Amino acid sequence: MDKITLTQPDDWHLHVRNGKILRLVIGHTARQFGRAIIMPNLRPPVTSVSAALDYRAEILAALPEGSEFNPLMTLYLTDNTPIGAVQKVAESQHVYAFKLYPAGATTNSDSGVSHLDGIFPLLEAMEKHQVPLLIHGEVTADQYDIFDREKIFLEQNLSRIVRRFPALRIVVEHLTTEEAVQFVTEASANVAATITPQHLLFNRNAILAGGIRPHHYCLPIIKREHHRLALVKAATSGNPKFFLGTDSAPHPTHSKENACGCAGCYSAHAALELYAEVFEKENSLDKLEGFASFYGADFYRLPRNQKTVTLEKQPWQVPEHYRQGDVDITPLKAGEQLSWKFME
Ligand code: DOR
Ligand code: ZN
Repeated sequence: MDKITLTQPDDWHLHVRNGKILRLVIGHTARQFGRAIIMPNLRPPVTSVSAALDYRAEILAALPEGSEFNPLMTLYLTDNTPIGAVQKVAESQHVYAFKLYPAGATTNSDSGVSHLDGIFPLLEAMEKHQVPLLIHGEVTADQYDIFDREKIFLEQNLSRIVRRFPALRIVVEHLTTEEAVQFVTEASANVAATITPQHLLFNRNAILAGGIRPHHYCLPIIKREHHRLALVKAATSGNPKFFLGTDSAPHPTHSKENACGCAGCYSAHAALELYAEVFEKENSLDKLEGFASFYGADFYRLPRNQKTVTLEKQPWQVPEHYRQGDVDITPLKAGEQLSWKFME
């Protein structure tokens, strides 16, 4: 097979930032995807519907001319999110979900939730109004080893949330472990998950063996090979609980190549191609369309896209950098060959 045509995909987990970085990256996503769930961890975080609408307007203004890309907005939960925000989101045309960052879990999560039980009234309202809750599933306390943080979150927190709010629609974002795959597989149909390209392509050697590679550092951190294999199996299984969410998270190159480098892999430049590599290796290219273009839309109760897109087997080299003005971003697989190419 040297050409695949599929229904246009959507990215169900994306960071595009604002300002100059937004203007550099947004074209990459808009070229491939019909829609994307836009993460709200800006500085300051996007905590109200009106702030989300302002942010959406900034994204639309940064799109290449003629683009029909539709940014689906989310709100950042804090310890102080007012209960009325849930109904406002339920009634909003452009805001689709709340994002739960445990305080301190990742980039710009300082204003996240520090006391989970404190937001239970909000979760109850989300359950009632059928507003999805998107979860960064990691515990944050210093005592927990960084490689165990997702697994412990499942045991300590997610299992409690799922039991207490059985009708709450939850996306466990960026799965990284075998345990998380099992958790989502066994949970009700209200619980789904996104999987990133980097967690399908790499195990932790890609960060640490033979030298530190900061462009492979993201959170939750990439784990051991048996976890990668479980994720690949889930993504290529045809199980509609697992769908595409790149977690493409641009940081300037100097903030990654740094004594204290930021977490996040930039993958929007070749998102669909990176997934295609994984599916091809598994002999599962026939499962790519469901994962990339159907299951996420179905979970969010949105229509599937109408257009189609095409990938061709045509080797190309990823640039070392993407630059615009004084912004420089190093993409995933910088300087390396990819075998599939997205056709314009
Ligand atoms: O690696 C990550 N980068 N993980 C996240 O959860 C946030 C993201 C970012 O915003 O940079
Ligand atoms: Zn993210």
